[in-house]
Amino acid sequence: MGDPTVSGVEGRKAEHLELSVNEPVEGASGPGWADIELVHEALPEVDLEEVDLGVELLGRRLRAPVMIAAMTGGHEGALEVNGALARAASRHGLAIGVGSQRAALQDPELAHTYAVVRETAPDAFVVGNLGAAQLIDQGAGRQLGLADARAAVEMVRADALAIHLNFLEESVQPEGDRRTRGIANAIETLAERLAVPVIAKETGAGMTRATASRLRDLGVSALDVGGSGGTNFAIIERMRAERQGDDRGIRLGRSLAEWGIPTAVSVAGASGVGVPVIATGGVRSGLDAAKAFALGATMVGVARPLLQAALEGDDALDRWIENFLEELRTVVMLAGCARPAELRVRPRVIHGRTRDWLDQLGYA
Ligand SMILES: Cc1cc2nc3c(=O)[nH]c(=O)nc-3n(C[C@H](O)[C@H](O)[C@H](O)COP(=O)(O)O)c2cc1C
Repeated sequence: MGDPTVSGVEGRKAEHLELSVNEPVEGASGPGWADIELVHEALPEVDLEEVDLGVELLGRRLRAPVMIAAMTGGHEGALEVNGALARAASRHGLAIGVGSQRAALQDPELAHTYAVVRETAPDAFVVGNLGAAQLIDQGAGRQLGLADARAAVEMVRADALAIHLNFLEESVQPEGDRRTRGIANAIETLAERLAVPVIAKETGAGMTRATASRLRDLGVSALDVGGSGGTNFAIIERMRAERQGDDRGIRLGRSLAEWGIPTAVSVAGASGVGVPVIATGGVRSGLDAAKAFALGATMVGVARPLLQAALEGDDALDRWIENFLEELRTVVMLAGCARPAELRVRPRVIHGRTRDWLDQLGYA
């Protein structure tokens, strides 16, 4: 991975994978979970086996409220990772996203590195993925449109298509696509004309309640808030900029390392606009997930820890997922609930920085 002979999108994606696994790529401020406490119920009256983690997402029933978040595809190293992640999604009844499919739209020979997900997990809820920045004219490179989105869906027989919003990353990335005008229209067209639901997905800078409402009005069916506090693409692109000696990327990556709306705050903002919310960004445990559900999330998304486990093998993936679900089930029970969604109406205490964010953005 990170083979300097592979070029363009393909090489960049391999480098993201390598840096995410091997380097400290999370910021210092955190996603906000540490500021949130769920309240113990001393008389729970729910048996652990009664706790039902099943959830409905966009008309489909999942055994657990967890999405393996979009990561990879488009280079040979991705084939094995996507295969392992898809086996885990299948075994545990999780949803699974693939990484940006642009590479395979440009070079169809790479399609198998994504299609492996559907082939391995025929019954899973699979989410395709394209970048919003590529849907508008960047002045160079091919602009993607409706036909490309349909091809991306077809490639993995996707149940939904995520359009990722990554303008923080594009801003720092040495070769980033930095134009943003026209993005709302492009999303609206896809939401209107694609046969599958569109998910708007931030990738580490989060979103406000106003943006969440706007995306809903554009026809998006679900929101992946992708808040700050988990894998941080300003840091990853700064590391790439350092390798390339790109001073601009190094400078911006340093100053924007803590930019963004923490995941907990993004979830609190987006919940209640009327579409399902997926909480991604620094979700590391069943307890973190329970806090996201208390704030209104329908699902949580996890990327980097599952990538690291996938590289160790199927047993490591099983262990990680089983521990996570066991912890979630236990916390749901200890809060006196039988389902994660019931956490929304239980008491919770919110401290510190997260409290400040919520108060000052006017989220009750
Ligand atoms: C190696 C790597 C590649 C990623 N590639 C994509 C991508 O192509 N499209 C996308 O929407 N998100 C991508 N992401 C972002 C994740 O889906 C997720 O939003 C982010 O990593 C935060 O989750 P985490 O803190 O659990 O890692 C990628 C993440 C990683 C670690």
